[in-house]
Amino acid sequence: MSKGPILGIETSCDETAAAVVTEDLRVVSSVVESSIDLHVQFGGVVPELAGRAQVDAIAPVLERALDDAGLNPHCPGVQAVAVTRGPGLVGSLLVGVSVAKALALAWGVPLVGVNHLEGHLVASHLEHPSLELPVVTLLVSGGHTMLVVERAPRAFELLGATIDDAVGEAYDKVARYLGLGYPGGPEIDRLSVSGDRAAIRFPRPLRDVGLDMSLSGLKTAVVRAVDRSPETSAADVAASFQAAVVDVLIAKCERAIDLTGARTLALGGGVAANAELRTAVVQLSRRLGVESALPSLAYCTDNAAMIAAAGFHLLEHGPASALSMSAEPSLRLEAA
Ligand code: KG4
Ligand code: ZN
Repeated sequence: MSKGPILGIETSCDETAAAVVTEDLRVVSSVVESSIDLHVQFGGVVPELAGRAQVDAIAPVLERALDDAGLNPHCPGVQAVAVTRGPGLVGSLLVGVSVAKALALAWGVPLVGVNHLEGHLVASHLEHPSLELPVVTLLVSGGHTMLVVERAPRAFELLGATIDDAVGEAYDKVARYLGLGYPGGPEIDRLSVSGDRAAIRFPRPLRDVGLDMSLSGLKTAVVRAVDRSPETSAADVAASFQAAVVDVLIAKCERAIDLTGARTLALGGGVAANAELRTAVVQLSRRLGVESALPSLAYCTDNAAMIAAAGFHLLEHGPASALSMSAEPSLRLEAA
């Protein structure tokens, strides 16, 4: 018999999110508010502002998520409250963690602390609940870039990671240099469509070795190329930069599948919304004869449905968290 849906809460950075997800990973409601407008003028998230915005947004976001799911906030009948406990900005994390503790206590249900990275890793499961393991996931966001294999449920093994910038960070920095808006990923993605991806041959750092990644040299190469030829159109620079990024990421995915014998290739994190990367992942999967599992755009960027999904997996495979649980700004995947 179903023990009821789970409420997920995500407040690790500038998004305030709440979602209700059923045991079979059906998303009943998912609400995401972002404070990004406050940060645009600074070209990056300002932790103090993000934390304050979390405080303002959390109650209305929760109310809407419960209301959209048709649940009574006094007695919602959820089986647990899952919340991101790290990694992230401490001031932002504490808002979600404190609210989740209060709700778990008031409703008399278990509290489940979730690693944000595990949330991104299971986002692909939301729309592919029976995806075939082992699954290799390329997790690419503003703060993280890693390749992970899940051989059995929740048995995550880190295969490789960036040794410098995260992919999203490189997108944001290149976009800023080109005078585009923040966050830069979606801007470069859009602009690339009208650019020539062969206009500049950027380096492909570490493409042919191992599973670690490096983005900072590529970013510097973009700056140098623009300084040298300021007449090159921003669209050509964007398209050439993106071609280099996708080329490297796809080579890493192919190597990871070869090494692990994975049956599925999945994406997660904000950069997984990138159109060229998504197309390339589907093509690679077809060529290698594996399944591809791409989350919808709404489940690539930060959201609470992925946290609820990870919460179910945690409850299935271990005990709930203590109410003394704390926010862990530097939580690593290995501690998931
Ligand atoms: O996962 P996310 O929402 O937050 C973090 O946990 O970091 O990822 C945000 C990152 C930003 O760097 C943003 O520029 C990038 O994802 N991003 C994209 C696209 N949409 C968002 N990068 C490339 N193409 C996109 N379409
Ligand atoms: Zn994230």
